[in-house]
Amino acid sequence: MKSIVIAITGASAMQLGERSIQLLLENDKTVDLVLSKGAYNVAKSERNINIPVEPVAQAAFWRNKLNVDSGKLKCYRWNDHSASIASGSHQTKGMVIVPCSMGTLGRIASGFSLDLIERCADVHLKESRPLIISPRESPFNLIHLENLKRLANAGACIVPPIPAWYTNPKTIEDIIDFIVVRLFDSLGEDLDKINRWVGPNK
Ligand SMILES: Cc1cc2nc3c(=O)[nH]c(=O)nc-3n(C[C@H](O)[C@H](O)[C@H](O)COP(=O)(O)O)c2cc1C
Repeated sequence: MKSIVIAITGASAMQLGERSIQLLLENDKTVDLVLSKGAYNVAKSERNINIPVEPVAQAAFWRNKLNVDSGKLKCYRWNDHSASIASGSHQTKGMVIVPCSMGTLGRIASGFSLDLIERCADVHLKESRPLIISPRESPFNLIHLENLKRLANAGACIVPPIPAWYTNPKTIEDIIDFIVVRLFDSLGEDLDKINRWVGPNK
């Protein structure tokens, strides 16, 4: 089965990446997962979570944390340039970067494939495969906006983590689910956990 690549970078709201992994695995999908070096720092400083870097230990960590034993999960180190997902010959359904830091965004936009996430994003663009980017920063400066425009022109789909209000979210989990399901809508994967708009008063 073709995998879906999830990349979590060093931006706020890694809960979005976490929920993405959980919903995909619960839906029996195959997930290739990479965290950037910055993501480990943010996990520690924002959430006081120490995520194991070693791939097998990390896969066990996520399964335990997310309480899910279905699907297939493979983790990679951020600097593993010989990983299968660094090559266009490895088939995937697409890649989702959530949340995407402005650092990773800028390096992808300039073709500067320093870590595995940037290389894998570069591969998705060159192979014309779906690349979904969920940028997390506010406000955006002109450089961020230019980078987003450049990547949209190169074929990436830019899906910022912006909630909808018509669903009347009651909890943070409602907001997270809406954002995550809409990300995977862009990839053509229906994870179907949200109230969709059906018109007024229905
Ligand atoms: C707690 C914390 C939150 C951060 N939030 C963001 C953010 O929302 N967006 C962003 O672009 N950078 C954010 N940063 C800065 C990035 O982590 C930093 O630029 C890092 O070098 C990005 O590396 P990466 O792109 O390889 O993940 C944050 C840093 C910390 C410590």
